[in-house]
Amino acid sequence: MQYDQDKFTEFFADAPADIDMGALDMNRIPRHISCIMDGNGRWATARGLARTEGHKAGIVSLREIITAAVRLGVDVLSAYAFSTENWNRPKHEVAVLMHLFAKTFIDELPLLKRENVRVVFLGDISALPSRTREVFEYGLAECRDHTGMTLALAVNYGGRAELVRAARELARNVVSGTITADDIDEDAISAHLYTAGLPDPELVIRTSGEMRVSNYLLWQIAYAEFYITDTYWPDFDRWGLIRAILAFQGRDRRFGGLSAPAR
Ligand code: IPE
Ligand code: IPE
Ligand code: MG
Repeated sequence: MQYDQDKFTEFFADAPADIDMGALDMNRIPRHISCIMDGNGRWATARGLARTEGHKAGIVSLREIITAAVRLGVDVLSAYAFSTENWNRPKHEVAVLMHLFAKTFIDELPLLKRENVRVVFLGDISALPSRTREVFEYGLAECRDHTGMTLALAVNYGGRAELVRAARELARNVVSGTITADDIDEDAISAHLYTAGLPDPELVIRTSGEMRVSNYLLWQIAYAEFYITDTYWPDFDRWGLIRAILAFQGRDRRFGGLSAPAR
């Protein structure tokens, strides 16, 4: 995606001492960056606050990372906001999260409009509380004509549930005779995932140090590069994103083959 050089320079002025912005290769910015936004609860607990305060603080980070990704010319930014397993949390925490999702979408509409951000949801949003679902539908309609970066928000998302859903849809198509079993190939499965039409993530960032995938984009991350930082999500900022991209650019992505000869 095209990026605006002036806005980029302004947004990324005053880099901390450990970051050399000159080392960033703008021709090799990952097309799709995905964030597992983890550590909100621990961030709050460490400050003697309620866990839900961490979720509120996490929204500020998401806003900054959305803007940073637009400034970098990223095509797709995805973010894991609520998993199918997160329903197991205390009722109050789930209720606060559902309220925050709706409130944030409305609050951030001016940003999404100004930056021309397209929004898609990954996950079963039909199962969300009606108020949250209605706000999501309203927000999606408000952003319908946007043509810039795609923001893919994973809400009530589970990688296994997504694959089950794809298998069912494909099975129904076989039964109805629209396709045969042999038509089911990798492209067909990809086309039946919530991420249909989006490139696979090239870089997955997980904050707060956990070394696990937690049921996220199981199919799509087949060859993603992982970057795990101990920073809690509410402390993650534009510079954290740059550190992750610099690390990504230093990786040797082999895709099962051999390294490209040194240039
Ligand atoms: C991530 O932060 C946000 C959601 C899962 C909704 P957590 O709430 O998982 O924070 P920790 O991992 O308990 O610190
Ligand atoms: C993953 O974080 C889900 C989101 C960030 C929304 P969790 O905090 O739910 O993951 P686990 O429980 O540590 O694996
Ligand atoms: Mg967590």
